[in-house]
Amino acid sequence: MAQPPQIARKVRLETARYVLRTVEAGDATAGWSQWLLDPAAARWLNAAPRAASLDEIRGYIATFDSMKSHLIGIFEKDTGRLIGIHSIYVDWPRSEYLINVMVGESDARNQGARSEARPAIHQFFMEELGLEASRATVIAGHPSLAGMQRWGWAVEHKSLKPSASGGAPVEILHMKLTRDAWRRAFRGTDG
Ligand SMILES: CC(C)(COP(=O)(O)OP(=O)(O)OC[C@H]1O[C@@H](n2cnc3c(N)ncnc32)[C@H](O)[C@@H]1OP(=O)(O)O)[C@@H](O)C(=O)NCCC(=O)NCCS
Repeated sequence: MAQPPQIARKVRLETARYVLRTVEAGDATAGWSQWLLDPAAARWLNAAPRAASLDEIRGYIATFDSMKSHLIGIFEKDTGRLIGIHSIYVDWPRSEYLINVMVGESDARNQGARSEARPAIHQFFMEELGLEASRATVIAGHPSLAGMQRWGWAVEHKSLKPSASGGAPVEILHMKLTRDAWRRAFRGTDG
């Protein structure tokens, strides 16, 4: 049974092109403040497009304790630029973690960042921390769904949520990835 840590555990993982590490207050950037202005990103996150102030971002970073919640940035090795984040909330009694991924820098999307980060992130939470499942919510029709299913994610149930843009309600898929399904998918790679 996975045990909750008593002290903060900062994360640092490496992939070929990225460093995945706990985000610190000093990592707030002007670029990040623009991420939610992008209509495509806002739509898929069901958020109203808007800029965030640096103070707001620092406040958001400060809500993560690196015990029950982890904010893990995706930093380009070549440039040091922060291009995206994983916000992860651990439910220790249930041995699960809820994961949200955003590649905020639009020129860094569809370059394989999330694909490269995925094995490192789930291996850390499933195998290193010993958690038994991951959860995520995805808006129906999201282009990531086929890829998620290939990695072992399954739809558990669906719900409707008011649309942030004021249109028709948005269908939310509640997805689950068990550790067994993850291990099968991971073994199928050369990871
Ligand atoms: C969705 C999101 C997190 C994906 O991150 P990303 O880094 O752009 O994704 P990737 O580039 O790794 O993968 C995108 C596709 O390109 C493919 N790809 C993988 N490596 C690649 C590479 N080196 N070059 C180009 N394409 C690649 C992937 O296979 C993937 O297809 P799949 O989804 O069918 O598996 C990101 O685009 C994003 O934040 N978008 C806006 C907000 C959003 O939609 N958030 C998610 C809510 S669920």
